[in-house]
Amino acid sequence: MRVPAHYISSLILWVGPAFAFFKVPCSTPLVIERADPLISPGVASNHVHTIMGGSGFGFTMTYNMTQASQCNSCSAIEDKSNYWVAALYYHAKNGSFIQVPQNGGALIYYEQRPDPTTNGVIVAPPAGFRMIAGSPFDRQYKDTIEADARSFACLNYDGPGTPQTNGFPTRNCPNGLRAQIYFPSCWDGVNLDSPDHKSHVAYPNQTYDNGPCPATHPVRIISIFYEVTWHTEQFADMWYGDSQPFVFSFGDPTGYGLHGDFLNGWDISVLQEAIDTCNDGGGDITDCSPIHLYPDTVTDGCLLEPSIEEETEGWLNALPGCNPIQPGPDDATIVTGCSAPTEIGVPQHYYTDVTSSLGWEWIGCAVDNAGGVRILTGSSVRGTDMTVERCIQTCKADGYTMAGLENSTECYCGNSVDPAKKPTVTPMGNCLFPCSGNTGQKCGGYGFIGIYQECTGDCHNMQYPVVPH
Ligand SMILES: *[C@@H]1O[C@H](CO)[C@@H](O)[C@H](O)[C@H]1NC(C)=O
Ligand SMILES: *[C@@H]1O[C@H](CO)[C@@H](O)[C@H](O)[C@H]1NC(C)=O
Ligand SMILES: *[C@@H]1O[C@H](CO)[C@@H](O)[C@H](O)[C@H]1NC(C)=O
Ligand SMILES: *[C@@H]1O[C@H](CO)[C@@H](O)[C@H](O)[C@H]1NC(C)=O
Repeated sequence: MRVPAHYISSLILWVGPAFAFFKVPCSTPLVIERADPLISPGVASNHVHTIMGGSGFGFTMTYNMTQASQCNSCSAIEDKSNYWVAALYYHAKNGSFIQVPQNGGALIYYEQRPDPTTNGVIVAPPAGFRMIAGSPFDRQYKDTIEADARSFACLNYDGPGTPQTNGFPTRNCPNGLRAQIYFPSCWDGVNLDSPDHKSHVAYPNQTYDNGPCPATHPVRIISIFYEVTWHTEQFADMWYGDSQPFVFSFGDPTGYGLHGDFLNGWDISVLQEAIDTCNDGGGDITDCSPIHLYPDTVTDGCLLEPSIEEETEGWLNALPGCNPIQPGPDDATIVTGCSAPTEIGVPQHYYTDVTSSLGWEWIGCAVDNAGGVRILTGSSVRGTDMTVERCIQTCKADGYTMAGLENSTECYCGNSVDPAKKPTVTPMGNCLFPCSGNTGQKCGGYGFIGIYQECTGDCHNMQYPVVPH
């Protein structure tokens, strides 16, 4: 096993502006489901992905759809790209699976690694550009540049540093497991994509993150590197047998099948300007003036409603899709014919639809109590038996037409919301606390209120972004 070259070469980064980079932080994923517009356009994908970036994401993607994003789980306003990797599951001794929680979403590095043969010219990939790094079929270390471009860091902030590995580490990682994927940075200069989503790009011809591009792919694009971290330490006392208990959603217990997908949604001229002018050796994006940042409430709140009708969370009898464990070392194969849904279904709402039961509609999630000022100022009630229905019925009985739920237990009533404080389409992810009286319902968040109002005429729940077909 090699020590990944990125680890070594990152030490060189500090030398000067020529090796600068900037990091785009991505908050909680947009959606975790079987969607992959590159490999499986228009249908459910083979396995569950965790998807970050612009809410324009859908089962079939164009550049224009990225630009239509209404919110973004990543911080750069000018970047409506999507970044995705497979979800990680814990595989229990009894055969059940449960998703391993992610630590945030991802950290995306944009590294200005020049090609010595192109006079330092690094270009932003064009609108519509997309690519995949790695292969879900790999089950062993293959001595290739693509294999070296994928690695795992077993995080232990208090202990001695341990070498990164190409497969899953076989010990508990006290601060989580970080998957790392370095994308090809050499482009053929012509094709936005290719049938295998790889051949239009290539790694530099000696190492995955440095050096000249091969003559077949002579255009140096910005080097993109993903870090995605999971809280595997939460399962520290649940190991059994003599191997590690984590599997990727595509039935990989080895980790060698790690792969990532990139769909370019940048404002191309801004990305080019950032490449040309941002020279912070520490990668701090706040020092990169062409790029502007969303507040955390936007990136934390940006969420898409999943629309494949299956469970992906909680204890599962099998991995979603047709993904039996394939331990290798031979390449895995695609399995079909299990009963997993292939169709895209209706979006599953995070709010509770009470239009037909109560004649009230959902209008959104808003910041509340900023500076001690509540946005619904009528009566209020709190309790350990709070539900959406209880709050609405209380407000209705008190003569109000709006009801807001907050922090699992609280209910506020009123008749109007200051237009400046009205909920927008973006922050549903801030209103996901379970209701104290029904954990299957959502009752706002800490400082965030989920609001319903009495319908006037036809009821119309506010439409949140859904994964477009
Ligand atoms: C994308 O949007 C631009 C600007 O609105 C428009 O001119 C172009 O026709 C659109 N392209 C496609 C493929 O829809
Ligand atoms: C399997 O084991 C896990 C962890 O011990 C447990 O929580 C889960 O309920 C079990 N599932 C079944 C189907 O027994
Ligand atoms: C790598 O690419 C450069 C530029 O095209 C070329 O000059 C060099 O010979 C290549 N090296 C190898 C080992 O292929
Ligand atoms: C939110 O709920 C938590 C847990 O019940 C409680 O400790 C906290 O005080 C509440 N916050 C507010 C602002 O009411």
